[in-house]
Amino acid sequence: MKPFLALFSLIPVISSLTVVAEDDYHEMPNGWSYHSSCILPIGLSSYDKASLSPCPYPPKKTTRTPHSEVAASYYSDWSVYAQSVSSSGITHMSSTWTVPSKPANHGPASQSSVYIFNGLEDGGGIHGKASVILQPVLQYGKSGCLLNPAKWNGWYASSYVVDGNGRAHCASLIEANEGDEIVGIMERSVDDNVWNVTTFVKGREDEVSFNQVDLGDIEIDSAYATMEGMVVYTCDTFPGEGRIDFYENVLIDGKGNGIGDINWVEEVRHDECDQGVKVGSGGEVSLTWDPTL
Ligand SMILES: *[C@@H]1O[C@H](CO)[C@@H](O)[C@H](O)[C@H]1NC(C)=O
Repeated sequence: MKPFLALFSLIPVISSLTVVAEDDYHEMPNGWSYHSSCILPIGLSSYDKASLSPCPYPPKKTTRTPHSEVAASYYSDWSVYAQSVSSSGITHMSSTWTVPSKPANHGPASQSSVYIFNGLEDGGGIHGKASVILQPVLQYGKSGCLLNPAKWNGWYASSYVVDGNGRAHCASLIEANEGDEIVGIMERSVDDNVWNVTTFVKGREDEVSFNQVDLGDIEIDSAYATMEGMVVYTCDTFPGEGRIDFYENVLIDGKGNGIGDINWVEEVRHDECDQGVKVGSGGEVSLTWDPTL
């Protein structure tokens, strides 16, 4: 722990010397904001234990002042999701979901975003307790890994690794269109704790967004199927279909056994759009909402 403490004691010094850098935070799909110096393109972060050392600028819970043009309040959070926790750990997760239509509302100054992902964490499924998340993300709008406004008006799929030490590891962005099927796969190596996170469009397997991380002694035990919204003022910030289905869900536990009857638990964190979760008999998950509310 000593190197960690030393780093943390330096933080106030670094912060006071570089006031401008304080503003240079970007929201990531785990609901926190990350400093730009610790948002790393995949080429620099792949399979590198050192990349899990704490960022000198710790992540911040996303907070914002409401946009002056809009009186209503808003949130940036996981909106609705299903989770499944395995006491023996998880070594594999894969899911498929179909790209919906683009949301009708992009928010003030195109600041709203939607992230639809399957994902894995440690932390026993307790919200806010995880130290890392692996996420194949289908996103519409900005994020710390997609800062180019020219790409905020389309769907992009990418493999994210975001950790509680303030580092976000971005992989390549794959352009996706309504009706494309997104496949998100997270798998652990047999001999150690190296994870591959792979995202692609079914039928276009030549173009893969690949991320890799060595999680050391972190044990992955919680699986998610999630719709998250950033800067959500109104329900039409979410796609007009009012539902997203995660199908072909495969979970393998820490003993290497397929979890046949996935024990999905419904989590409705926000209900202003009548959000809900439905679980199918084959382990499918449907997240639902009413975009007209
Ligand atoms: C992860 O990716 C590496 C590099 O492509 C590959 O050699 C390895 O077999 C993959 N691991 C798993 C568990 O698929």
